[in-house]
Amino acid sequence: MLIAVPKEIREGEKRVALVPDVINKLTRLGLDVVIESGAGLHSQASDAEFVAAGAKVESGDVLKNADVVLSVQPLTPAQMATLKKGAVTISFLSVVTAADSIDAAASAGVTAFSLELVPRISRAQSMDALTSQALCAGYRAAIVGAELSPRFFPLLMTAAGTVTPAQVLVLGAGVAGLQAIATTRRLGAVVSAYDVRPSSADEVKSMGATFIELELESLAGAGGYAREMTEERAAKQRELLTPYIAKSHVLITTAAVPGRTAPRLVTAEMVNSMAPGTVIIDLAAETGGNVEGSKPGEIVITANGVRIWGGKDVPSQLPFHASSLYSRNVVNLLTLLTVPPAEGVQAALNLNFEDEIIDGSAVTHAGSRRGGGAK
Ligand code: NAI
Repeated sequence: MLIAVPKEIREGEKRVALVPDVINKLTRLGLDVVIESGAGLHSQASDAEFVAAGAKVESGDVLKNADVVLSVQPLTPAQMATLKKGAVTISFLSVVTAADSIDAAASAGVTAFSLELVPRISRAQSMDALTSQALCAGYRAAIVGAELSPRFFPLLMTAAGTVTPAQVLVLGAGVAGLQAIATTRRLGAVVSAYDVRPSSADEVKSMGATFIELELESLAGAGGYAREMTEERAAKQRELLTPYIAKSHVLITTAAVPGRTAPRLVTAEMVNSMAPGTVIIDLAAETGGNVEGSKPGEIVITANGVRIWGGKDVPSQLPFHASSLYSRNVVNLLTLLTVPPAEGVQAALNLNFEDEIIDGSAVTHAGSRRGGGAK
């Protein structure tokens, strides 16, 4: 069975779906691996390292003979059309933004798995690429915040006097937010955080940050995710958060609601209440922005001297570890789909749709879209 990894072609995508370290997990299962030459370039994985790890490296099209294609970004509709009937793809594959790739997979008779739809159950944690990549984004948010800030993060006692620590505020305390909290705390900042899910309070406190309690209804929704706010609640939340925002030196926003545009947590007026030299890191800039005026991939400087950094391809800004963690996620999912070789019988795919993980994340199979695609 041949597993192929093409070069990522979307601009700004610097990750690779497999790194050399994990190739032996696949070859041990009796699988052959082919990597397109140069696929690991940005992740510090050279062709020679892939070969040394047991993969083949080829220039040009690696897709047409593949039984399984592993990628980070979805294959384009044109790439899907070149796959063998019955081939499997595993990648990020949003039913909202990659509908054309999903349609093309269905037409080509390809079984496409969407990492966004891997259910959040304990057994699937090792396959949860949303989590591993959010972790990278949260860390990066903290580092960029520290870099753009003109202030020290830690308390410093010096002969020239005391430096007070930076005040960091994190809005949205999911995986990315908690990692941003952990990292800014390690750098010595005084950190507070808010989330609409009250259950996040204990996690925030366990990281040594203060949880901001607002007298507002909880928006904890299904699967541990948040629900969307009504406009009335959003306005009240903004009003109550304004004083906290006004006194922060670095504001990091990470709020998201699955399948929706990002909630608008910070208006231009609230940005105006911040002091010159303060920094905002908007990790949700690509999905509509938590902060009014943020632009993905840009640093916007407001009239009052606030710098708003809009995140774009943030996990790709840490390509070595983002690729390494992503690789382990896809290998774990692929292992679930594979029967290892035994007594002369070769390794083979076994798509058991009775399995909750396989059923939940396969968006196409045998020529049509599946229920997972409608979630
Ligand atoms: P996410 O990326 O969907 O959203 C980020 C955060 O934004 C969430 O904490 C959410 O509550 C918050 N948020 C949404 N609207 C907001 C608003 N208006 N104001 C402030 N905050 C707002 O979330 P993520 O990181 O995927 O985590 C969601 C939940 O899933 C958490 O409970 C997390 O612990 C859980 N989880 C479970 C996993 C598993 O069981 N395998 C794996 C990863 C996360």
